Formats: sequence, structure tokens, C-alpha cells
Amino acid sequence: MNIAMLGSGFIARFYATTLHAQRRKDRIHSVYSRNLTHAKTFAADFGLERYSSTMDEIIQDPEVDAVIVALPNHLHEDAVLACAAAGKAVLCTKPLGRNAAEAKRMLEAVETAGVFAGYLEDLCYTSKFLKSLASVNAGSLGNILWTKSREAHPGPHSDWFWDKEQSGGGAIIDLGCHCVEIGRNFIGKAIRPVEVMCWADTQVHPIDAEDHAIGLVRYENGAIGQFEVSWTFRGGMDLRDEVMGTEGTIWLNSFLRTGFEMFTTGKGANYVAEKAESDAGWLFPVGDEAHELGYPQMFSDMFDAMEQGREPQETFYDGYVVNAILDAAFLSAKTKKWETVQLEDWRSAATVAVDKDWVSYNETYYLIKKEILPNGVEKVILKDKVTGEIRQETVGD
Ligand SMILES: NC(=O)c1ccc[n+]([C@@H]2O[C@H](COP(=O)([O-])OP(=O)(O)OC[C@H]3O[C@@H](n4cnc5c(N)ncnc54)[C@H](O)[C@@H]3O)[C@@H](O)[C@H]2O)c1
Repeated sequence: MNIAMLGSGFIARFYATTLHAQRRKDRIHSVYSRNLTHAKTFAADFGLERYSSTMDEIIQDPEVDAVIVALPNHLHEDAVLACAAAGKAVLCTKPLGRNAAEAKRMLEAVETAGVFAGYLEDLCYTSKFLKSLASVNAGSLGNILWTKSREAHPGPHSDWFWDKEQSGGGAIIDLGCHCVEIGRNFIGKAIRPVEVMCWADTQVHPIDAEDHAIGLVRYENGAIGQFEVSWTFRGGMDLRDEVMGTEGTIWLNSFLRTGFEMFTTGKGANYVAEKAESDAGWLFPVGDEAHELGYPQMFSDMFDAMEQGREPQETFYDGYVVNAILDAAFLSAKTKKWETVQLEDWRSAATVAVDKDWVSYNETYYLIKKEILPNGVEKVILKDKVTGEIRQETVGD
């Protein structure tokens, strides 16, 4: 693929480093930046043929097959609409929109134009995530009851993130979009998110947006997706997920503990990892950050999907659903009530089983719990199927 990059900042550099790593065949061809000097530097750093400070010139270049939107949140919609109008495949970074209305317009634009569109939700592509999802889909965890996803760090690296108008919100929009989509994948994208309860506050920074939030997304099948997001967290970038099902549990740590621990007195100061707060003492570096964060796997899926004429694993529709959930979270943080997820466009026809699959112990009882006690005795807790009485038995009594 010949790729055009819109933006030359933090994520554009991460994407470019990924795309040009390890002899990959898809190349960035050109870059747009509003600042021509930045565009030129970016082009020189990554060996690109063209650069410009005019976005349309880059999008409409006939040599470009696909455009990556790596611009601040308030510019995603215009950029995506321009790509759709030019008939160009478009990959947009997270969050898709600042809200569901923006995301829906972007979704409609690419669908009307019939162009390929992918949602660059990298944390749903990490190796650990993909393997976990395969286990969940194979039934290893049974029915998923509860997911928990946390992204917390000391705050983002550019001015526009902190300005609610440009970003669409604080930690909820910036980090919550990852956490919500992680939970949705594990619970099942076909299961409708119904309502959200969220606490949010501005605990530390002099900004209008929230710098800390915790939320619960309730799904139609009763599952709960919990998200914990913060720009107040000290100690680096904490990316952790948990999945709890009727048959098992998964715990993932995607960044602060990847199996690489180092002590240094601080001599020879060096880059440790994204948002690391120290370069002395015991450190937790990340070997290949792009890989640990899912970027290579994400781009492989995107370009394979384009070539194979299929949808990628993360679509604009997913981005729209995430925005709708986050809209409900913002509202709930204000009203302090459960708020309905407003999904004007809900596409799954999945029916949700409401019957509980209780385990029968014998003709008379359901089995509630079995446990071996410290003295080696096995105990069962039972419920009478007719009377509802709860009692216990020691096995072998
Ligand atoms: N894990 C991830 O997927 C991930 C990580 C970081 C950022 N992002 C997303 O990437 C996007 C960009 O974030 P970033 O971290 O690269 O930000 P950044 O500030 O580092 O870079 C933003 C780029 O946009 C340009 N820009 C800023 N304001 C502009 C304007 N008004 N008009 C034209 N260009 C403008 C800047 O010059 C820069 O090139 C955001 O949507 C962010 O949420 C995603």
C-alpha cells in the first residue's frame, strides 16, 4: 500500500515507525502537517516522497491508496469526510469522534462513499489481547460476567488533549475509548450495551475536563464492563485488563510489567518507555513498545482486510458504538444516575439468553458451591429445587 499520513505528531511517528519496521512492504508515501517544517522533517525522518501543509493535496494524490488520520480529535471528522469524498480508504486513530454524532457522520460518509475504513484501536490487537480473546471465544472462560480495563498515566503530551473543546473530554474520551472497546470485545460485540453509570472528577489539574473516572457499562445479557481511566496516576502507564467468566479468569498487564525489570543508579540516562516518570532506580522498560501496544498486528489486519475485501477486526461502526457508550458515561457523571446508551444504529440481531444455567447436584438440589476445607473435608452448599432452602453437606457424611 501507498499510505498518506495526516499529522506528524506523537501517534503519527509511532505508526510510521511501525509501518517502516522489519522490512514491511506497506510504505508511507506522503505526510500532511499544518506546519511545513514539521512535514518536511517527518518526510526526511521516514524517507517519504512527498510532504505538504495542504491536507487535500495529500489526500487526493492519485498515488495514495490509503490515508491514516493521526490528527487531534476535533479534526477527525473533516479529515474522514475529505477521504470519503476523494474515494480513499481511511484508517482513523482513536477515539473515532468526540461524540457519537460525529462518529455516526463519519461512519455514514465512508459507507455512502463505499470506501474501506478501519478504526485504529491498537489495544484490541496486542498479542496478549488476541490470544485472550481466542480463549474467550473458544469458551475457556465460560460466560463472561465482568471485564475490567484500566488505562492510567500522569497525563497526555500535547496542549489540545487538555482543551475539552478540541478533545471532546478528558480521560474518559482519551483513555476510556480503549477500555470500553476492550470490554466490548470480551463480552461480545453482538451484545448490546444498555446503560452506563460513571463517576468522574477533576482531581488534580486546572482543566475543565475530568482527569479521573470510573465507570460501569451494563450489557443486555447482564455482563458488566468496568473502566478505570486517569490522568492523575503516578508511576508510568498502567494498562491492565481482567476478564472474569463462569469458567475462568484472565489477568493481563500490557505495559508496566512485560517481563523486563532493570535497576540503574541513573547513570547514562535513557528513554525507558512511554510516560515513564523516572530513569533511575528499579525500572520497567518495554522491549518493543509498538509490538506490546498492538500496532504491527493492527496494521496487518487493516491491510489484509483491504486486500481480502473483508471488514477489519475494528471498524468505524465499533468506533461509533464506543462513542455512544462514552456519551452515556459523560451524562451519567453529571446526573449521577444510570444513563441509557443511545444507539440510533444498532446492527446486531443477537438474542440474549436469560435462563440461568444452574448446576444440578441431584434430583433434589442445585449445587451452589463445592470447597475442600483446610482439614481436607469436602463441603457442598446446596439449594432445594422446590422449597429454595439452602443447606450444606460434608461429602462422605
Ligand atoms: N494508542 C493510540 O492509539 C493513540 C496514542 C496517542 C494518540 N492517539 C490519537 O492520535 C491523535 C493525535 O494525537 P497525538 O498524540 O499524535 O497528538 P500530537 O499533539 O502529538 O500530534 C498531533 C498532530 O496534529 C497537528 N495539529 C494539531 N493541531 C492542529 C490543527 N489545528 N490543525 C492541523 N493540525 C494540527 C500537530 O501539529 C501534530 O502533527 C489523537 O486523536 C489521539 O487520540 C492515539
